[in-house]
Amino acid sequence: MAIQRPKGTQDIFPGIVEKWHYLEAHIRKVCSDFGYQEIRTPIFESTELFQRGVGDTTDIVNKEMYTFLDKGQRSITLRPEMTASVCRAYVENKLYSQPQPVKLYYMGPMFRYENTQAGRFRQFHQFGAEVLGGEDPLVDAEIIQVIWELYRRIGLRGVEVHINSVGCPVCRGEHRERLHSYLQDRVAELCQDCQSRFERNPMRILDCKNRDCQRLTVGAPTTLETLCDDCKEHFDKVQHYLRILEMPYKINPKMVRGLDYYQKTAFEVMAEGIGAQSAICGGGRYDGLVEEIGGPATPGIGFAMGMERILAVLEKQQAGWEDETDYKVVVAALGETAREKGFQLTMELRQANISAQMDLLGRGLKSQMKHADRVQARYAVIIGEEELAGNIAIIRDMKLGDQTETALESVKEYILDQINQSQREV
Ligand code: HAM
Repeated sequence: MAIQRPKGTQDIFPGIVEKWHYLEAHIRKVCSDFGYQEIRTPIFESTELFQRGVGDTTDIVNKEMYTFLDKGQRSITLRPEMTASVCRAYVENKLYSQPQPVKLYYMGPMFRYENTQAGRFRQFHQFGAEVLGGEDPLVDAEIIQVIWELYRRIGLRGVEVHINSVGCPVCRGEHRERLHSYLQDRVAELCQDCQSRFERNPMRILDCKNRDCQRLTVGAPTTLETLCDDCKEHFDKVQHYLRILEMPYKINPKMVRGLDYYQKTAFEVMAEGIGAQSAICGGGRYDGLVEEIGGPATPGIGFAMGMERILAVLEKQQAGWEDETDYKVVVAALGETAREKGFQLTMELRQANISAQMDLLGRGLKSQMKHADRVQARYAVIIGEEELAGNIAIIRDMKLGDQTETALESVKEYILDQINQSQREV
């Protein structure tokens, strides 16, 4: 039997990969406009990094990690997310001794052994950004703005930003106590996961998706009710700055996020129209994380978004992708000498930064033109025996349907001229 790709993974083909390029290009531009620089970290890390960083009460660490022993008997894990890796790299490379804050972004594959469904994969891609060494609430507002600006530029509509504050170790103790006494008599009615969360991390019960748990927590105390003065002031200021930027948001006191490292600000972006997996982005502040993995006390905040989910929303909304293939050229040549001329010409066009291809299979002229159609070439340059004898080429504008003749040696100039003209018209 033919071998198939593992469950929860995808092949990304030509035709689709251009959409990834479109998204990636916008991401890079937005990040550069906001002053974020790219970081690339290993795809696998010591398992301990995620146990300590993401937290061993989380679903990610408990159930979803791709962990194995390498040949040297080290426990290795394919990264399920990148915040812990970025913090490790920050500490290991002493980025804390550089001017602060350090603003970084990344794109790449992440791995989680999840129950797969539409929009939920085992290998998926995230674009994320992290700011290390900045505790001002202005940083929180800026990072949310990166997300919003990206969505504006790619034309993503129907998204909602939900924000919350999950407090800090000082005020979380009180919340834990209040929540404990609120749920004390109803623990048995909670789902299996929440029964164990009750002892280990009760706050997470607040955003459990199980109907019974949701019913039981309708009037439960939220973290917003027990914020200490410092956390409250921080949250008020974040909102103040968001309002200054006229950024729409909703406060969602039940949204607490599924990773252990969050403190103070937490946020998620939800999109309509892509079914149950509507969270297209999540993030928040993690002021204790760098210290937790062995670095100096350093505030941090960031987000990550699922790129497959963003593309799914764009697809649903049929937002127009920019057509980068408009000026493709296909050189169609017939006969050995014409093919040689065509081969030289194709190379010349490529050297002038024009996307050009020619037939590699020795096909007839008709099927070469069909090919030009299929690859959506803007121009076809035709060189048959007759043209060759007259030292000319026919240039057909595939979009407008008209054609013209030009001397073989001026084909490149002619096409460059046409491209310049149509770019001026746009
Ligand atoms: P997260 O909420 O676990 O946060 O993931 C962020 C986003 O990744 C989700 O909102 C979703 O769009 C996408 N995502 C997660 N799991 C899957 C999956 N199985 N299939 C497809 N897409 C998925 C984090 O990963 C944090 N590191 C975010 C962060 C950065 N917080 C601070 N800095």
